[in-house]
Amino acid sequence: MGPLQIREILQAAPDNQTVVVKGWVRTKRESKNAIFIALNDGSTIHNIQAVAEPGQFSAELLHTVTTGSCLKVTGQLIASMGSGQAVEVKLTELEVYGTADPDAYPLQPKKHSLEFLREIAHLRPRTNTFSAILRIRHALAFAVHQYFNDKGFFYLHTPVITASDAEGAGEMFRVTTLDLNNLPRTEEGAINFKEDFFGREANLTVSGQLEGELGAMALSKIYTFGPTFRAENSNTTRHLAEFWMIEPEMAFFELEDNMDLAEDFVKKVITYALIHCKDDLNFLQNRLEDEEKSKPQNERSLPLLEKLSFVVDNPFERLTYTEAIDILLKSKPHKEKKFQYPVGWGIDLSSEHERYLVEKHFKKPVILTNYPREIKSFYMKLDEDGKTVRAMDVLFPGIGEIIGGSQREENYEKLLGRVHEVGIDPENLWWYLETRKFGTAPHSGFGLGFERLVQFVTGMGNIRDVIPFPRYPKSAEF
Ligand code: 4AD
Ligand code: MG
Repeated sequence: MGPLQIREILQAAPDNQTVVVKGWVRTKRESKNAIFIALNDGSTIHNIQAVAEPGQFSAELLHTVTTGSCLKVTGQLIASMGSGQAVEVKLTELEVYGTADPDAYPLQPKKHSLEFLREIAHLRPRTNTFSAILRIRHALAFAVHQYFNDKGFFYLHTPVITASDAEGAGEMFRVTTLDLNNLPRTEEGAINFKEDFFGREANLTVSGQLEGELGAMALSKIYTFGPTFRAENSNTTRHLAEFWMIEPEMAFFELEDNMDLAEDFVKKVITYALIHCKDDLNFLQNRLEDEEKSKPQNERSLPLLEKLSFVVDNPFERLTYTEAIDILLKSKPHKEKKFQYPVGWGIDLSSEHERYLVEKHFKKPVILTNYPREIKSFYMKLDEDGKTVRAMDVLFPGIGEIIGGSQREENYEKLLGRVHEVGIDPENLWWYLETRKFGTAPHSGFGLGFERLVQFVTGMGNIRDVIPFPRYPKSAEF
């Protein structure tokens, strides 16, 4: 079953038992009386200290023990005399699995900028910051599955390759096997997609929702959790071209049920991280506190753990889009013309507006509902007034929109009307429309951007730092 991990060894009682530790060297320190090697295997933020006596190993061998090299060490687990750790390993054997030339290895025991680390994404998981983020990311993903499983949802695997544009925004990556230098043409001169792999135009999905709805119309409660792709040219700290989305879809849920579920869901997964990722969250909190020190007092944010507990402990503010516009129109930045984008009923809220509502006005997460139909997707249920739809966006401090969802239009005629209105060819969505013909039912769902959640929980400022290998415009290395 493989060797014990450092996380386990650090919890063991020091009884002089022989242990084998395998991991990467973080630091090596030599004093007159001893050589200290800090090893980490990624199982925990904490290193284990291995101690050798001077002369115990050849200078030649010790010379290859440098930051980044990989070792197998054997020794006795003893109580540590140093103050940093409870136990340490008194070395008897030392094997170097792989060296790391100090002149070439880019990760040295000092603070590297996040920008620099992005350029070495193949090595950055070996840093404290990224290993902490990746462990928290894992814990959150696990909590998502556990939450839905406990609530009677089924995990539905929706396709990555699709022929439809679920969000109707046209921001899709094409999937094709056609020879781009020799495209087949129709008689009219257009590209003949009949000759393409799928016999039609195909793309990477922007959302699993439409297929998710098909599942909900049979299994009642489903969720998807998979990669989604958007070819939007957004170079922001909150957008990726490839990101993971969690999309629950529930038959017999109305908008209010949908809001209740969304709020309970995010609170529960954040609570899971608070319970199971204490060491990593503490590490990230300290890291953030260092960063905050450079800011003026009144601009500093709450310590990470306090911020997370605050979100878990307080009800989200719920209001309609129309009410939010009123607040914005009465706001100081609007009156003083400080907003970059104009405010008025009908606008698509920009992030400065969302942040004003969440960070300045309510100072807590907000759920906005009943947006104008013109700025939302075709599948959202029309309100009685015909002007707004039963949409809901959950807005988070520092993040903005973390969840987007709605009650779905279950009326066939109304849905068809919207499909025509936004210019979608109903032929392409015949299967989606048929669910409204055969046993239609009120239903709702939402999508949570997984990286935005990880960003919130880890306190990281840039979404590119919470996914192992980020994809964004002009960047698909690694
Ligand atoms: O609001 P969106 O576009 O909604 C949908 O895709 C619906 N089909 C969801 C549903 O109702 N089932 O996206 C949902 C969430 C956003 O709130 C945001 O958190 C995240 O996905 N998101 C992105 N995250 C990272 N990079 C991007 N480019 C993102 N675009 C959306
Ligand atoms: Mg949205």
